Amino acid sequence: IPVDPFDLVIFGGTGDLARRKILPALFRRYCAGQMQPGTRLIGAARADMSDADYRDFVAQALDEFDTAHGHTADQRAAFLADLHYVTLDAMGDEGWDRLAGLMSRDRIKAYYFSVGPGLFGPLAERLHRHGLADEGARIVVEKPFGRDLDTARALNRTLAQHFDESQIYRIDHYLGKETVQNLMAIRFGNMLFEPLWNSQYVDHIQITVAETVGVGGRGDYYDRAGAMRDMVQNHLMQLLCLIAMEPPAKFDPSAVRDEKLKVIRALDPVAPAQIVRGQYRADGDKPGYLEHVGNPASTTESFVALKAHISNWRWAGTPFYLRTGKRLRARTSEIAVVFKEAPHSIFGAEAGRHRNILTIRLQPNEGIDLDVTIKEPGPGGMRLVDVPLDMTFTEALGPDAEDVPDAYERLIMDVIRGNQTLFMRGDEVEAAWAWTDPIIADWEAAGTDPVLYDSGSAGPEEALALMHRDGRRWREIR
Ligand code: BG6
Repeated sequence: IPVDPFDLVIFGGTGDLARRKILPALFRRYCAGQMQPGTRLIGAARADMSDADYRDFVAQALDEFDTAHGHTADQRAAFLADLHYVTLDAMGDEGWDRLAGLMSRDRIKAYYFSVGPGLFGPLAERLHRHGLADEGARIVVEKPFGRDLDTARALNRTLAQHFDESQIYRIDHYLGKETVQNLMAIRFGNMLFEPLWNSQYVDHIQITVAETVGVGGRGDYYDRAGAMRDMVQNHLMQLLCLIAMEPPAKFDPSAVRDEKLKVIRALDPVAPAQIVRGQYRADGDKPGYLEHVGNPASTTESFVALKAHISNWRWAGTPFYLRTGKRLRARTSEIAVVFKEAPHSIFGAEAGRHRNILTIRLQPNEGIDLDVTIKEPGPGGMRLVDVPLDMTFTEALGPDAEDVPDAYERLIMDVIRGNQTLFMRGDEVEAAWAWTDPIIADWEAAGTDPVLYDSGSAGPEEALALMHRDGRRWREIR
């Protein structure tokens, strides 16, 4: 469904995120026919570039990052021809009049702040000063939203001086992933799971976001952040919220975000013994984390595993195990809901112990499977075996499911539609920092180094032990 014509300005329009994600996402939505004629896309940055230079820059970005998608040469030429560029100083006055001249009246205006948080305030202030921020204007801000509770609060305060909360779209791109939205569909669209979705029936829940990549070219940023700030405080926290929250009364921004916030606020502090920090080591001539970030003394973690508890009626007593790391064996994100054993086995001890496990595969090979216990075939008596009821979405839904939009496509269009459901509210981000801050403070106070793990492994041994000592084990990363 096409959206109304709009003006979108990408501050940081020559940056890495614009190249990799934002511009290719806009191009795909353009090819899908979602943008009406007259929609105006404007890159803005400090670099001195003409419109023609910017079109070349974007053409290269599409070559590099939009290889998988079909489009015609005409579509591509038309998309590029409509792009504009403004050389602009976020801290000064240069370029703002030209930008104002390019913007239309009476249209939805969206401003994507794809810049460091230090520029959020100056940009917001100048948008007002130059008459560019009417009531319908929206701003989009990226993570990291601060590096702790204090900085996140300060950012929220700065933005609130210029924009109402209803105009602020804080991105966590995990919420734009098709399968992450599917978590809500699976939970709240089916009668089957919800009655069992509590500590009476669920033994524990595991959330894994494993990556094979290292820190790449982002060593500077990453070494100051670490896995806790880069992944746990936002992406894993959001997954935890969607799995654990109470059913919202409606699928609308306030209802969904209120419920997520309650989950974060109900999280217990995590004791140091319930958390493992890891760092990948060098392997022969393959560099490790320290070489990648160019800091031989770094004690930053590239892996975290932890055990969390949610103190509320639904979840008291059910642990949530979370882990994420770089340079692991496979790129796998999944959530496993491990149900309790049946209270009594009519088949006797020799039938073994069995559990149903609902696994929601977020990426790759998106789908769900449910381990169900059945009789092992053959004449050998009543032996039981667990087999998966496996549903891969592309098989179940046909070819349509293969062309899933990238998270950024969905999220940018939601900004234009004015739908904040899949964006983080200010209080949510603050609550998430309030939970992670003491964990990080404990590490800093203890001054201990992360434990080392091999690239291509499932993480440090200590992370396996975190579950073993509870008589449980992680699902394999494969
Ligand atoms: C980003 C993190 O937010 O998410 C990266 O900063 C991480 O470190 C990335 O690699 C993972 O996203 P995805 O979509 O590849 O799972």
